[in-house]
Amino acid sequence: MSASKKILVTGGAGYIGSHTIVELIQNGFEPVIVDDFRNSHRSAIEGLGKITNSTIIVREVDVCDYSALKAVFEEFSFIGIIHFAAYKAVGESVQEPLKYYRNNIVGLINCLEFAQEFGVENFVFSSSCTVYGERKGVSVVTEAEEMQPANAPYGNTKQIGEQIIHDFVQNETGVKILSLRYFNPVGAHKSSLIGELPLGKPNNLFPIVAQTAAGKMKQLIVNGNDYSTKDGTCVRDYVHVSDVADAHVKGIEWLEKQDGTFAEVVNIGTGKGTSILEIIHTFEEISGIKLNWTFGPRREGDIQEIYAGVEKSKKLLNWESGRTVREAVQDAWNWEQQLEND
Ligand code: UD1
Repeated sequence: MSASKKILVTGGAGYIGSHTIVELIQNGFEPVIVDDFRNSHRSAIEGLGKITNSTIIVREVDVCDYSALKAVFEEFSFIGIIHFAAYKAVGESVQEPLKYYRNNIVGLINCLEFAQEFGVENFVFSSSCTVYGERKGVSVVTEAEEMQPANAPYGNTKQIGEQIIHDFVQNETGVKILSLRYFNPVGAHKSSLIGELPLGKPNNLFPIVAQTAAGKMKQLIVNGNDYSTKDGTCVRDYVHVSDVADAHVKGIEWLEKQDGTFAEVVNIGTGKGTSILEIIHTFEEISGIKLNWTFGPRREGDIQEIYAGVEKSKKLLNWESGRTVREAVQDAWNWEQQLEND
């Protein structure tokens, strides 16, 4: 079996993971998904098969299960690892911190350990703009920005993850690591065969808006209208998930060309801020549906305005987001309608 292009993708059935599988296959890589489907759906694998017209390799393994994960490394010879598998719900992480620390930290440690043991040199870690924490008066953040304390265990697991990586690369293991700090990935693949599939009630704005438009949720509550932003609502950097997926391919390709042992961090965003009201209006325009929404109180821990400094992603990875927020809204809406018709 050719060892040249195999990439281990943990959490490859999840939202960003599944979109990344598409881009990897379309760029000549051979991804192997490790996912135990605790937070994803098997239907994503079917969708991936249809989009890529290929057989998707999946091993149903929990990344925290040391011996089961090791067996995957023994079975295949990887040139890279993309480690997505982790929990990401901020509120839940406050309720169940140990669940977050165990899954997000142990999973990472296992992957790093096997990268070293099996000589897998190229490693991409899913990080988040949440690592920047609560900053005073700075809306655009570059990678040079100092981290502030995280406002929830979830964010803390990403900060600790980056710290573990920093310490890990102090020894010459030959493992090169790229942490991608995602801003707000949204939208769906243009085929509507894969997309965001939150289990239970969604927490993030896009699926909530889409489900409200579809009538699945009664009303959207806009969390606060008294922020010092263009229209009083929070501003975020919404980046199309297929562009985020593409950043992983560019990341692996860049890592392959580097030598040594090191860790780099790169923002993955558009560099543009969009308010909640702007998202609502775009959804209304595209769907032709009047959304039922109202202003509510601020959500605790919310950051007023944050968007990515994008110079480093352009320079280092030759990556930038090509799709607009409008396209993301269109694709999210197409995906939601397809789910309704299922
Ligand atoms: C959140 C997390 C972030 C995590 C990301 C992915 C916080 C503070 N940040 O990002 O760490 O990486 O999710 O899971 O929780 N909104 C409403 N009404 C709703 C839902 C959301 O007004 O019903 C608002 C939010 O208050 C926020 C904006 O929409 O201002 C975007 O929210 P969301 O999609 O949850 O993303 P973040 O908060 O940016």
